[in-house]
Amino acid sequence: MSTNVIEQAKAAPSVELGLYVHVPFCASTCDFCAFYQIMPTAGDIRRFLEGVAAEAALAEWTGPVSTVFWGGGTPGLLAARDLTRLAKLVSDRTGGTPREWTVELAPASVTEARLAALRDCGVTRISLGVQSFQPRWLEALGRKHTREQVYRAYARIRKAGFANVNLDLTFALPGQTGEEWVADVDAAVALAPEHLSTYCLTFEEDTALWVRLSQGAFRLDPEKEARLYETTWDRLGALGYEQYEISNFARPGFACLHNLNTWRMQEWIGLGPSAASQQGGWRGSNPADLGLWLSELAQGRRMTADRRTLSPALLAADALVFGLRMNRGVDLAAWRLRCPDAPWREMDENLARLAAEGLVEQGGGIARLTRRGRLLADAVGLELI
Ligand SMILES: C[S@@+](CC[C@H](N)C(=O)[O-])C[C@H]1O[C@@H](n2cnc3c(N)ncnc32)[C@H](O)[C@@H]1O
Ligand code: SF4
Repeated sequence: MSTNVIEQAKAAPSVELGLYVHVPFCASTCDFCAFYQIMPTAGDIRRFLEGVAAEAALAEWTGPVSTVFWGGGTPGLLAARDLTRLAKLVSDRTGGTPREWTVELAPASVTEARLAALRDCGVTRISLGVQSFQPRWLEALGRKHTREQVYRAYARIRKAGFANVNLDLTFALPGQTGEEWVADVDAAVALAPEHLSTYCLTFEEDTALWVRLSQGAFRLDPEKEARLYETTWDRLGALGYEQYEISNFARPGFACLHNLNTWRMQEWIGLGPSAASQQGGWRGSNPADLGLWLSELAQGRRMTADRRTLSPALLAADALVFGLRMNRGVDLAAWRLRCPDAPWREMDENLARLAAEGLVEQGGGIARLTRRGRLLADAVGLELI
């Protein structure tokens, strides 16, 4: 019997421990990206690996790690031997084999040697940053790969034996037509990945695209964004990809467990500069700077940026904001039990108001966004916090 993606989302136990490793290296900076990353020297890579070893020794490994996610940056920029070294640095701490282990790769960095190293380490899932199949839009985003490199990378990933592959796509690029976006969706589906993440382009402060936006080179078009969102949901649904979150779609049984655990406000250890952790009643991030992260570690400190106690109010509000974005919604009854001291009266009033506005629907103790609510998810989230 095949597992339905939404049933898969329901089935997970209540507290799981994830591990996120931020590999802060890229060959160049894309025009839209605000994630912390640098173009590394050999010394940076050596210092990063030493830092991960030091941070892994400081972290509290409270139980077996159920999911691992290496993101970035571009983990695939590390040489095969460094990928193996990185895996060894943490593997004796994770307490057995994780249920899922994802590594993000950029198409230009996918080589047979790197894939073989990842497979031998136990990686189960590859996430490939495609963004677009069209040269014009790859260039507009400042991506350094070509369409041919995407196809070559995908073929190599399959040949290496990976049976769980995600493709990242980006839409609502300034000037992009609906037809061009549908062509990208169709090109991705034609490759038959198990999972698709479709992100609406956001203009992050200080990125090259943000500078062009603030200079008036183009304007935001929320109505067009909404149309493209709906086109994506309908098309991928019709093509057999079940939507389980606003931007995420999967074949049955292939929802990303690591992200599900994060959105369900489980616990995770984050290693590497800028990585966030949530554990033991605390949330915090590492400094988004390789040198600062290392100097904090040298003094025995980690997750010192934005450090805050996970109060019941904060935890329950985040559970609502992230839970509503999932198609299965958020189990309010379970959260009442987990956080009895959260301000539930106020939260119930907010939910009732959003339901009256047609943005949220409730039933059987579950709350979720309506289709219209999904189009206004960021505004709904702001209402709730
Ligand atoms: C941090 S990147 C890592 C993947 C890998 N480095 C790559 O780009 O090939 C993960 C994904 O975030 C998405 N992303 C990053 N910045 C974004 C933005 N400003 N708007 C929309 N999506 C974004 C892209 O789809 C990207 O593939
Ligand atoms: S989108 Fe990926 S490859 Fe581009 S700068 Fe960001 S992390 Fe690096």
